Amino acid sequence: MYYPDELVEEVRARSDIVDVISSYVKLQKKGGTYFGLCPFHNEKTPSFSVTPGKQMYYCFGCGAGGNVITFLMEYENYTFREALEALADRAGIELPKGEESAEAKRQADLRARLLTVNKEAGRYFYYQLKGPNGGRAYEYLKGRGLSDETIKRFGLGYSNVYRDDLYRYLRKKGFPDELLKESGLVKIEERGAHDRFWNRAMFPIMDVNGKIIGFGGRVMGEGEPKYLNSPETRVFDKSRNLYGLNYARTARKPYLLLCEGYMDVISLHQAGFTNAVASLGTALTAGHANLLHRYTEQVVLTYDSDGAGVKAALRAIPILKEAGISAKVLNLKPYKDPDEFIKALGREAFEERIAQAKNSFFFETDVLYGQYDMNDPEQKTAFHNALAEKFLRFKERLERENYMEAAARKYLIDYESLKDLVNAMGGRSGLGGGAGRSRGQKEKREKPDGIRQSQKLLLTWLIEDARVYPALKGILSPKDFTEDLYRRAAGMVYEGLESGNLSPADILNHFINDEDEYKEVASLFHTSLSELTKEEQEKAFRETVGRVKRYSLEEQIRNVTDISLLQALMKEQAELSGLHISLN
Ligand code: UTP
Ligand code: MN
Repeated sequence: MYYPDELVEEVRARSDIVDVISSYVKLQKKGGTYFGLCPFHNEKTPSFSVTPGKQMYYCFGCGAGGNVITFLMEYENYTFREALEALADRAGIELPKGEESAEAKRQADLRARLLTVNKEAGRYFYYQLKGPNGGRAYEYLKGRGLSDETIKRFGLGYSNVYRDDLYRYLRKKGFPDELLKESGLVKIEERGAHDRFWNRAMFPIMDVNGKIIGFGGRVMGEGEPKYLNSPETRVFDKSRNLYGLNYARTARKPYLLLCEGYMDVISLHQAGFTNAVASLGTALTAGHANLLHRYTEQVVLTYDSDGAGVKAALRAIPILKEAGISAKVLNLKPYKDPDEFIKALGREAFEERIAQAKNSFFFETDVLYGQYDMNDPEQKTAFHNALAEKFLRFKERLERENYMEAAARKYLIDYESLKDLVNAMGGRSGLGGGAGRSRGQKEKREKPDGIRQSQKLLLTWLIEDARVYPALKGILSPKDFTEDLYRRAAGMVYEGLESGNLSPADILNHFINDEDEYKEVASLFHTSLSELTKEEQEKAFRETVGRVKRYSLEEQIRNVTDISLLQALMKEQAELSGLHISLN
């Protein structure tokens, strides 16, 4: 289902990069290189370069780079195949038709049919709620304070007590066994078929477009599991969908409320907070955060007030931040979750709590504060150290000082002493940007885009050049690839290299269901280390590995709460510059 490598190479070779990019960007020749204003970020002076000798482009400003194919993928937002087709067309190369487009069509078709099955199932469940056996479920939902209007809006329903009721219904509608199996709604075994959901109150899960992609089913009363969910299918990816987002995205509020459960979302919407969403019974992922970022830059976390909820919030904050979202944390106490809070105190009280939501930095430091006994000088000092370490994440001096000032007031610490401590730590950890640096030397935290680029480059090299894996093995592991997608790809690439049968086409197959990911991973296979000279290779390799490792350590340090772990990480950080990183 892929164009053969030789054909890809032919298309690439016959598409001169300067020619192609010139039709998008005004380029000027300087020596052997062309320069222009970067189309991938805003700039006033050219830092975008195109090198005909290498047939590559690179932007010194934002780190965008690649070959003629990735240029079109990024600029035109094309898939790998679309970019290839456009270039082939331009170069007058005939591409074979048929197989791959038939496969793509088959996939799209399957997805559409699964959505139809889910829609029918959703109708069936909703209809059951009003049916002869649905009374108890209806009473259950009403008993939880939901109005008929809310039940309808969220399409809540009931799965019947018979073992294959839904199966028979869907078969009668003409859906074949194969499809029903793939939907996750039924299990078909030799003894016959049986429904996944049985005697539960049903919550259809919709994607942003309001299409039903899966279901959650709640036991009415006590029982395990409390919620049974659809398995992941071709249309249901838990780490990329948020419950309630189909409504929340049009709520026209400057922020979204992020909570833990189905019922939280529903109660909040019913109370007028239509900007509430929840991750689907899983911890927040980078995929969720990126999805959120399409709609907002501000999230108010309304996780449960118990220990698990606090932990989940501490985990979510850096993930949100990485995606460009700033978080606040809402205090629900003395209630457990938004559902209970709303029921007990109502809408206005919740509104007040939103207004009082705590800045995520102070949420973290308050949690930290709670872990030490301030009457014990040793523990108090340990708290001051742990706190000081937290300021190192702010690379802007003014921002850091504002936070230090506020914290000094809040925790009754002498400001100058705190500042000294932070400065000392900044110097020791080698993070740069210590609090005492002069104004001119502003050092920003590594830009996420730049780091992505470096991680991507390393993966590309790993795939392409046999020397890279042995040189990398002891230093970087897949977990150092902080970018979710690259970490997953790295896991597969490492595994392939370790077992001696790395197959890019196979790896790519794992990402075929998501166009963005596919595009990104496909582009991994199309930039090249061999286009550099020997010395350039050494230098690029050393710098890139160092950069990825440094960032990975920084990330871990930012999130660590355990002091001895922190010390180990800082030690590793200090030793980084002495590390032997070489291709030879
Ligand atoms: P909670 O256990 O906090 O449930 O799980 P809840 O939202 O308060 O539910 P109610 O109010 O008792 O009905 C939070 C979320 O975690 C997922 C569900 O998405 C749930 O809404 N979950 C929980 C499951 O997927 N399975 C479970 O067994 C439990
Ligand atoms: Mn609840």
